[in-house]
Amino acid sequence: MSKPKILQIGSLGGSPGADEYLKEHFDVITLWDSDDVSQTLRNAADAEVVVTSAIHGCKAEVMEALPKLKLICNWGVGYDTIDIDAAAKRSIAVTNTPEVLNDCVADEAWGLMIACARHIPLGDRFVRENRWENHDGVMPLGTRVSGKKLGIIGLGRIGMAIAKRGHGFDMQVAYHNRSARTDVPYTYMDSLAGLAQWADFLVVATVGGASTKKLVDREVLAALGPNGYIINIARGPVIDEAAMVQLLQSGELGGAGLDVFENEPAVPNELKRMDNVVLMPHVGSATRETREAMFEVVTANLQAFFGGKALVTPVATS
Ligand code: 8YV
Repeated sequence: MSKPKILQIGSLGGSPGADEYLKEHFDVITLWDSDDVSQTLRNAADAEVVVTSAIHGCKAEVMEALPKLKLICNWGVGYDTIDIDAAAKRSIAVTNTPEVLNDCVADEAWGLMIACARHIPLGDRFVRENRWENHDGVMPLGTRVSGKKLGIIGLGRIGMAIAKRGHGFDMQVAYHNRSARTDVPYTYMDSLAGLAQWADFLVVATVGGASTKKLVDREVLAALGPNGYIINIARGPVIDEAAMVQLLQSGELGGAGLDVFENEPAVPNELKRMDNVVLMPHVGSATRETREAMFEVVTANLQAFFGGKALVTPVATS
């Protein structure tokens, strides 16, 4: 029996064995390593399924080249790089990998929060460079995390996992969403600048895309202030990055813990030089356990589709 054809836009190498599994079970046409994209798309013209990742997404042009396309299967919860309107117009279904990564992304948000407030990367360098042994200077004092005020922008599945961890740190938790939730014990603030002014740590956990572009602007960051920390595990463009850099430089913003950036993998050099900033290369979901679980969700959706069953984690496209 011939294997079903799929177009794979980007490597899923972040889930060990994923690319190999796809090759074994499908007739995979890969786009990321093609030096003739038009020819590769022609070769994939009869594919019903695209497999992609949060980084690679799927543009309308790719959908146009695949007249039989019925499903875009995304490895990742965020699908802001998939042209959802173009998919909806053609009734192409989209699936993502929700839930399974909530804990690890929330853990990373906390790691960033504590790492920048307590200068963990700086302390690590201080020891490795023998500065402690050689009595060469002192570490700057950190900022207390426990008992402080935690603001969350976007109290969705990941935001909730971040909020829950706040209890263990005796923190007060407040959040900003488009509208208040009636099912949570946390304080709703309808003004984002108001939340920033209140918070000691402001964590960005919203969806990406046009609806949240530069939502965290200069005014919000300035309201967070010289003792406040901004943490971003969502999408880089949600923050006005240039304004953030300027405010960090001038000391009007206390610090930042960043997993995501406006133009990944490019990171502003100014950020790399700051000791009050902790940087990670977009790896919120990157644990063995979570990456395995993410790929299981991808394969469950592929099996459902090719088995004629209901998709496991469809995204609402309209
Ligand atoms: C990335 C993510 O897929 O799920 C998402 O939306 O951003 C992550 O899980 C992963 O880090 C690879 O970039």
